Amino acid sequence: MRRFSRITGTGSYLPPRRLTNADLAAQLAVDGIETSDEWIVERTGIRARYFAAPDVTASDLALEASRHALTAADLQASDIDLIIVATSTPDMVFPSTATILQHKLGVAGCPAFDLQAVCSGFIYALAVADAMIQTGAASKALVVGAEVFSRILDFKDRGTCVLFGDGAGAVVLEASTTPGILATEMHADGKHMGILCVPGNVSGGKILGDPTLKMDGPAVFKLAVGVLADVARSVLAKAGLTEADVDWLVPHQANIRIMQSTAKKLKLGDDKVIVTVHDHGNTSAASIPLALDVGVRDGRIQPGQTVLLEGVGGGFTWGAVLLKM
Ligand code: UT7
Repeated sequence: MRRFSRITGTGSYLPPRRLTNADLAAQLAVDGIETSDEWIVERTGIRARYFAAPDVTASDLALEASRHALTAADLQASDIDLIIVATSTPDMVFPSTATILQHKLGVAGCPAFDLQAVCSGFIYALAVADAMIQTGAASKALVVGAEVFSRILDFKDRGTCVLFGDGAGAVVLEASTTPGILATEMHADGKHMGILCVPGNVSGGKILGDPTLKMDGPAVFKLAVGVLADVARSVLAKAGLTEADVDWLVPHQANIRIMQSTAKKLKLGDDKVIVTVHDHGNTSAASIPLALDVGVRDGRIQPGQTVLLEGVGGGFTWGAVLLKM
């Protein structure tokens, strides 16, 4: 009998400090950086974001999201036999945030690793976990997206620092005789590496280069709207489905205009798109599992429904996961 994987629990966590656009604008004004609620809302749809306290790391956020997902799946951490954390803001250069999370969950022994595909990270992580479950390499996986992007923002660059926030989302993915995950797609094109990157690195005990996020916003925007509709169509085709079969689109939450453009191309009404960017900002690898959990917990996403997750980000990377809840 074919072995599938299925999401059996979702969870998420946002740090308590919420900054509205007005709060952030006031903070930036101290350094003479001008922005406004109007500009941020009009260009991005973002109204607020959450920033973690200085001593809180990605694994701390991941831990809270994981606990919620485990409770929803009615499992203990000791039941988990694979941990993947998608993050671009790990606690340390090494060991991985996944091993730190494993320790904080009070368990040991199962494989735990990070996956770095920036804002597409959760899609990649879910696709890898699905493949491992299908082959029998794992049976109960914890797949997490966790980010503290506030740590890598240049608060003198108003074109980027108003866009991002911190948070974590998690799912439990279990082996199942029925799908579950119907199809996955992962893509990358490294020639666009320069349009969204943190170019610095650690060498000789020093940070070499710039350790803050650099983005050519319009170039990323153009590439994103191009690939997202295409990858949605190809993952649907792989599963023998069409846009009309999609109950919910849960896209990466970077910009409401990108989400609306993708939904329009797929002929999906705005009422079929889970949107959290207005309240969370862009939480990179955490944004899709955060939005999924919001949709599940507020009762919009129901068991048996068809959900299309899709993401795009630095690398350039992009991908999609089509699943039945
Ligand atoms: O998560 C990975 C994927 N990331 C994304 O998908 C992000 C994709 N890109 C975007 O969402 C948009 O390109 C941005 C929201 C980043 C920028 O929006 P835009 O409509 O492309 O604006 P722009 O960068 O072309 O800037 C337009 C104007 C500029 O002023 P001038 O040159 O026209 O006078 C900027 O200086 O807006 C100005 N501007 C701002 N003004 C007030 C840029 N940032 C701000 C700001 N507040 N925060």
